[in-house]
Amino acid sequence: MTERELQTLLEDMTLQEKIDQMFQVVGMFYIKDNTGIESGPAQELGVTPEDFDMAGSILGITGAQRLMDVQKRYMKKQPHHIPMLFMADIIHGFRTIFPMPLAQGAMFEPELSEKCASVAAKEAAVSGLHVTFAPMCDLVRDARWGRVMESTGEDPYLNSRYAAAMVRGFQGDDMKAPGKVCSCVKHFAGYGAAEAGRDYNTVELSEHTLREYYLKAYQEGISAGAGMVMTSFNTLNGIPASVNRRLMRDILRGEMGFDGVLISDYGALRESVAHGCSADDREAAEKGIRAGVDIDMMTSVYSANLKSLVEEGKVDEKLIDESVMRILTLKNRLGLFENPYKDADPEQEKEVILCGEHRQLAREAAQKSFVLLENDGILPLDPKKKTAFIGPYVESRELISSWAVTGKTEDCVTIREAVEELSDMENVVFCADAADLEKAREAAREADTVVLAIGESYRQSGEAASRGMLDVPAEQMELLRAVSAVNGNVVVVLFNGRPLDLREVKERAKAVLEVWFPGTEGGHAILDVLTGKVSPSGKLPMSFPYCVGQVPVYYNHFSTGRPQQKGSDAGYVSRYLDIPNELLYPFGYGLTYTAFEISPVALDKKEMKTGEKLTARVSVKNIGKTAGTETVQLYIQDVSASVVRPVRELHGYQKVVLEPGEEKEVAFEIDEAMLAFLRDDGTVGSESGRFRVWIGSSSETENEAEFTGIFED
Ligand code: NOJ
Repeated sequence: MTERELQTLLEDMTLQEKIDQMFQVVGMFYIKDNTGIESGPAQELGVTPEDFDMAGSILGITGAQRLMDVQKRYMKKQPHHIPMLFMADIIHGFRTIFPMPLAQGAMFEPELSEKCASVAAKEAAVSGLHVTFAPMCDLVRDARWGRVMESTGEDPYLNSRYAAAMVRGFQGDDMKAPGKVCSCVKHFAGYGAAEAGRDYNTVELSEHTLREYYLKAYQEGISAGAGMVMTSFNTLNGIPASVNRRLMRDILRGEMGFDGVLISDYGALRESVAHGCSADDREAAEKGIRAGVDIDMMTSVYSANLKSLVEEGKVDEKLIDESVMRILTLKNRLGLFENPYKDADPEQEKEVILCGEHRQLAREAAQKSFVLLENDGILPLDPKKKTAFIGPYVESRELISSWAVTGKTEDCVTIREAVEELSDMENVVFCADAADLEKAREAAREADTVVLAIGESYRQSGEAASRGMLDVPAEQMELLRAVSAVNGNVVVVLFNGRPLDLREVKERAKAVLEVWFPGTEGGHAILDVLTGKVSPSGKLPMSFPYCVGQVPVYYNHFSTGRPQQKGSDAGYVSRYLDIPNELLYPFGYGLTYTAFEISPVALDKKEMKTGEKLTARVSVKNIGKTAGTETVQLYIQDVSASVVRPVRELHGYQKVVLEPGEEKEVAFEIDEAMLAFLRDDGTVGSESGRFRVWIGSSSETENEAEFTGIFED
C-alpha cells in the first residue's frame, strides 16, 4: 500500500477499531482450535472477549497452520480486513538454538551472530511469525541480574556491533523479503542497570552515563533499521520508562530518530500504577499514549481506557492516529496487506526448521563462544587416556537457556552422545548422577582424566532469576571436591547464564572451559573443543568477579581520584580491606591451545591533529605448536578531559588465525571520532591532550603506547 492508501484506511477506521490495533493479546489464552479464548484468565486481566477478539497483534503463538487459521479468522471479522501481527521472543534461535546472547558476545564475531539471527528469522518466518522481540541491547555490569545472559555484555562498543548485526540478521534490508522478520530492540532504556542486580528494580543512572554508555547499543540497533522498540520495566529519573514522555518522545524519537512501533513490555504500562506514578489504569493509559507507546502488551490499560479518554477530550485523537499509522505502516512494511500469511508454510516448516545447515551453524557458533579460562596443558584431551565424564551435564539436554521459548530440549545433543560418536574415544566411562558421590569418586579414581560437566541450571538465569550469590550450586561443588580429592586431572566444563565466582573451581581444576548455555549442538561443539578438533577462541564479554562483593564490576570503569596501584598495599585508596580489586577473569580474556606473542605497540606518529588518522600496529606470532585464533584488542584512554573518562575502552578488535610459527601484522586506524565523548554542555567532541593506547589479548593488557591529540575546539 502507498502511504496515501494507508492514510485513507486510517481515516475510515472507527476509534474503537484504532484502539484495537494498539492492544496486544497474549496467545496462551487461545484455545486449541483457535476459535476463541479462555475467558477466565483473560478476564482476570480486565480484557473483554471483544477486545481479545479484535486485538491487532498476538504474542507467543507459533506454527504455520495455526497462525494461518488465526489470521484468516481475524481478517474475516476485522471491518477493514486488516491483518494481525504475530510476535514472539525469538532470542537466540527459533527451533535451532544458538548459544545464548552473552555467549555470542564471547565469539567477538557479530558477523556470525548476524547469520544466527538470519537462520532464526527464517525458521520463525516459515512458522508464521512476523516480529521477534530481539535483540536485547541492554548494557550489563551486574552478574547478579539474571538477564545478563540475554545481553552481549558490558562493553558499549561490542554491544553496539552485535545490536546492529542482529537487527540486520533478523530483518535484512527489507523485512518483507522471504525469511525475514521485524526486529524489536529492547528494553528501552537502561534495564540492565537494575539496582543490586535485582530484576525490575529501580535504575539510577546519571544523564551522562545513560547517554554515553547505555544508549549506544539501542541506537545502533535503531540505526540498523529495527522496526520496533520495546520499553523497559524500570524507572529512569524516577519515572517508569513506559510512561516516560521525555525518554520516549524527546530522546528515542526526537534525538535517536526512531520512527517505528513502540511497544510496552509485558504489562509495563499497568505497572506504572504499582510504581506509584499513575493513580490507576486510566492515568497509565493517558501517560502511555502521551509518551508515544503505540502498543500495550497484555493488559487492558489501553483497550479499557483510551476510548473514553478521547471522548472526554482528555487525549487528542491525533495521538491515537499517530500510533495506529505507525502500526499500519509496520504491517505494510512486512507486506501483510498483500500477503497476510507472509512466509507461513507448513511444508517449508518441515524442511527448513532444524535442517542440517542450521545445526551446523549452531555448532560453529557454540564452538566459537566457549572460553578457555584455565588450562595447564591437560586439554586437548588425549584419546589414549582413560577419561571419566562425570556430572549432571554429561547427559543433560537442558542446554538451551530459559529464553529459548520455541526451542526443544529433546533436539539437543548431549555430551555423552557426542562422545559416543567419536571412534577414537573408546576408553571412557560416564557418571551423570551428581548426587552419587561414591560412584563419582570411583569413576574418577579409575580414570586418567576427569571431565566434570557442572554449572547453573538454565532456570537460574533469565527473567526474574536474579541471584544474590554467584556460586556454582552447592551439590555440584561437592561433586568437584569429591572428584578432585581422588584425581588431580580435572577438566571442568562449566554451564551458566552469568559470570560466577570461580575461585574454588579454579583451584581444583586443571582446565576450565566456559560453555554457557551452548544450544542445540552443545554436545558436539563441546567435544570438538575438548578433543582439539577445534581450538577454543572465545573471549569474555563480561568480567568474572573475584567474588560477589565486587559487583557491579566492569573493566571500563571511570578513573578515581585514589586509584589503587597494582601490587601496592597502601591505604586510603579505592580498594577493599578483605578482597582484591582485581577480577578473577577480565573482559576480553580467553586462552587457546597455543600461545601468542604480541609485539610492542608501534604508532606511526606521536601527534594526531584534527582530520588526521593515526595507525597503531602490532605483530602477532603463534609461538605454540598448534594453529589458533587470537582476538587482538585495541583499548584507548583519554588521560585527561573535561569529563572523567574510563580507565580504558575497547575501540576495535581483529581476529587473527595463525599456524604455528606464523606471524601477522595487525593494524588499527584511530581517528578523531573514536576519541569523542559527551561533554558536560551536551556537545560531543574530542579534546586535545594525552591518549593511551593498548593492544593485546585482554582488557588487562599492559602493552601500551601514548600519543598527543591536537584538536581544534
Ligand atoms: C517480558 C520480557 O521483559 C521481554 O523481554 C519479553 O519480550 C516480553 N516479556 C514478552 O515475552
